[in-house]
Amino acid sequence: MTERVVVVTGASSGIGAALAERAAAAGHAVMLVARTEERLREVAARCGPRAFVHVADVTSRPEVRRAVAAGVAHFGRIDVWVNNVGRGITRPPSQLTDEDIDLMMRVNVLSALYGMQEVLPHFRARGGGQVINVSSMLARVPYAVHRAAYSGAKHFLNALTANFRDELAAEHPGITVSLVSPGLVYTEFGTNAHHGGPPSRSFPQGQDAEQVADVILRVMETRATDVYTRPESHDRVVAYFEGIGQGP
Ligand SMILES: NC(=O)c1ccc[n+]([C@@H]2O[C@H](COP(=O)([O-])OP(=O)(O)OC[C@H]3O[C@@H](n4cnc5c(N)ncnc54)[C@H](OP(=O)(O)O)[C@@H]3O)[C@@H](O)[C@H]2O)c1
Repeated sequence: MTERVVVVTGASSGIGAALAERAAAAGHAVMLVARTEERLREVAARCGPRAFVHVADVTSRPEVRRAVAAGVAHFGRIDVWVNNVGRGITRPPSQLTDEDIDLMMRVNVLSALYGMQEVLPHFRARGGGQVINVSSMLARVPYAVHRAAYSGAKHFLNALTANFRDELAAEHPGITVSLVSPGLVYTEFGTNAHHGGPPSRSFPQGQDAEQVADVILRVMETRATDVYTRPESHDRVVAYFEGIGQGP
């Protein structure tokens, strides 16, 4: 495997931490981005001496711009930018506030938009690069009532990802944009949700963060455009859409 410089946002826990560790173990140079320095340093220690920690709130465009600059200054280049930051919410549609929607949009959409836009000049200058956006099954199928605003934000992320890919395809074929959609994953996502919520592990049939990280590592190699982390997700999405538009 060719060594690449991989930036992972949300690398202080869950899928991002597992991805940083797996990528480092596979020989890649990793830059770990999140807000909590102490946790980032714990993960970096498990990644080895070359791991580079950068503290940033990726809902701030200037902070994302500084993260890109810091990565390029430290490693000389960035090859892969993984927009992994995301946050859930536990509130049904009838009770959602303006603030709930704003938060979901900032953390699930703007964070990735900033990442894509701010790394793009570097990728253009080099004539290549890879963006991987971590989405969700709930971005395709809105089957969790209390996650409505999260589901909607991730739908937005999917549209942005697909159209960003299309925009770049003709002019910059060396820059690829991939979408990875997990289902339930056993991380702190459940308890970190806005307004709280049960631990992810209290639900059956989840994946471990390491399994999702391995799928993302494969996408780094194949540059596949749109990937579910579980094979059965495809059929579930198809079944949902087959039931739409049939009547009256
Ligand atoms: N777990 C699931 O069931 C599941 C299912 C489908 C999709 N996903 C998606 O997978 C991705 C990773 O989620 P996870 O399960 O690993 O969740 P997690 O354990 O809660 O991790 C979230 C990570 O994002 C960071 N983060 C949050 N807000 C940030 C901000 N404003 N700026 C910088 N970093 C920020 C957190 O670190 P700090 O708090 O230190 O900043 C943490 O490292 C998300 O996009 C999520 O939507 C998760």
